[in-house]
Amino acid sequence: MSRTPQAKSRAGNKPQAVKPVAPKTRAAKAVLQDAPKARMVTVYIMGKRHVVPEHATIMRAIEYSGQQIIRGAGCREGFCGACGTIYRLPGDYKIHSGLACTTLVQEGMSLTQIPAVPMEKAIYDIEKLSPDVDTFKRLYPVVFRCVACNTCTKSCPQGIQVMDYIQAAKRGDVASIMDISFDCVACGLCALRCPAEIVQHKVGVLGRRLFGRYLAKESKELDTRIAEVQKGAFDKEYKSLMSMPKDKLSKTYYERDIEP
Ligand code: SF4
Ligand code: SF4
Ligand code: FES
Repeated sequence: MSRTPQAKSRAGNKPQAVKPVAPKTRAAKAVLQDAPKARMVTVYIMGKRHVVPEHATIMRAIEYSGQQIIRGAGCREGFCGACGTIYRLPGDYKIHSGLACTTLVQEGMSLTQIPAVPMEKAIYDIEKLSPDVDTFKRLYPVVFRCVACNTCTKSCPQGIQVMDYIQAAKRGDVASIMDISFDCVACGLCALRCPAEIVQHKVGVLGRRLFGRYLAKESKELDTRIAEVQKGAFDKEYKSLMSMPKDKLSKTYYERDIEP
């Protein structure tokens, strides 16, 4: 995060109260756009007190406080996993975690964004692997250190049964890893809390790759669609999207049909 002039003017050595002021930055105004008379709550961002709208996400609250997020943000929609944040709530000793772009602020929340965590990633050639337990033994032997504490599952903002797919990796059950970990956004919050230092999301990626390469059934529909793309069946539509103004593109995106 870097401080915008609005925040700099409030900076001081000791924590200080910040009154709800009329929003000055574009990001701050955007927070109030949908609910101009929103109830305000007090939160502590990196130890400093701020008063922000109740309906704001952590990300919007940080921006409302006058700071610009220059790292730890990407899609802003809960897909890219870039915005892992830890927080505490009043009277609760636990450390909670969530995605800043989808977690709403709460009264008394004390939050901080986490720096990127360097996590060891196995290097492999997917063409030279087998979809079984030997691959996990060789590439991620750390999974066998799992103590089944389930902390990873409790940390996951996607509600994934993380421990279960680590147990599946220990059995070499690639199909279960694929099924259970499918919605992982690779935020790394599970790995951050794991006492055994397992990099769950990297294990999940390996499982899904093995499934796609060796176990997935061939799809005639996919072959047909690839042939259509190669013949240029969607070129006109693609061109029209590429030249669309941003607001119309956004409207088209949110009104699209989503397959069940
Ligand atoms: S947090 Fe780590 S040790 Fe605990 S269940 Fe999850 S993978 Fe296993
Ligand atoms: S499994 Fe781990 S890395 Fe994936 S979304 Fe859940 S907490 Fe994030
Ligand atoms: S910014 Fe992408 S998940 Fe939050």
